[in-house]
Amino acid sequence: MNADASRPTIDTSNPHPARVYDWLLGGKDNYPVDEAVGERLPPEAKDAARQNRAFMNRAAAWLASQGVDQFLDIGTGIPTAPNLHQIVQEVVPSARVVYTDNDPIVLRHAEALLVSRPEGMTDYIQADVREPLEILAHARTLLDFERPIALSLIALMHFLPDDQDPFGIVGTLVDALPSGSHLVLSHASSDIFPELSAQVAAEYAKGGIQLGFRTRAEVDRFFKGLDLVEPGLVTAPEWFKDTARPDAEGSGIYAAVARIP
Ligand SMILES: C[S@@+](CC[C@H](N)C(=O)[O-])C[C@H]1O[C@@H](n2cnc3c(N)ncnc32)[C@H](O)[C@@H]1O
Repeated sequence: MNADASRPTIDTSNPHPARVYDWLLGGKDNYPVDEAVGERLPPEAKDAARQNRAFMNRAAAWLASQGVDQFLDIGTGIPTAPNLHQIVQEVVPSARVVYTDNDPIVLRHAEALLVSRPEGMTDYIQADVREPLEILAHARTLLDFERPIALSLIALMHFLPDDQDPFGIVGTLVDALPSGSHLVLSHASSDIFPELSAQVAAEYAKGGIQLGFRTRAEVDRFFKGLDLVEPGLVTAPEWFKDTARPDAEGSGIYAAVARIP
């Protein structure tokens, strides 16, 4: 953990994505400004948050079941049990998980992410995904980049509009990973429920948070050159493997896992 960031300053005058998401998930680590955004969102936003988190659960458990034991999770969010390391260490106790987020409130709650099983390891990097080389340099000190790593960008990239180079950033991260690694990505759509998406984006924008919701074709671009794992790029509740089929329900979240050749 960065020593100089050990006393993070929390801005409670503006809403923050991690805290609005925490409110949507029913968490308590948010402030009135975050709740105000959440209250103005359509009720489907809570469903989307729940579906997204459930996808993360299934995808992480499946990857661990395939023997993946190194995870780099960027845009981790405020701890919400079960967290990624709890899911994967249930399957592979020696799994190593590196968390990253740019929000000081996530750093403040990082202790909950650092309670690893003794056989495994967790760590936390306070960093912005828009500085991928900085994240990679730090992650190289914690993970073995000679062996496959699962990179998870769960409900993160829609916080980067096109002018912030989202595709270039994901390309930089993916290119640094060895063959046999995986990219796990979920992303809010602009084309499944266009009116709802526009409403959600407008409410976040009023709080000063710019969103880049994307079409299916645009989200697919993040996986260019990678081998999508079945069932491919689908909505979050449609992505499952080796588990019971989740309840069929509409979802505005795209999700996929892909193998890096
Ligand atoms: C919607 S939450 C998702 C949390 C978790 N990945 C999940 O899906 O349950 C998005 C997270 O991304 C973080 N985030 C947003 N922009 C970021 C950036 N530029 N760099 C790093 N993290 C960012 C937010 O602070 C927040 O914690």
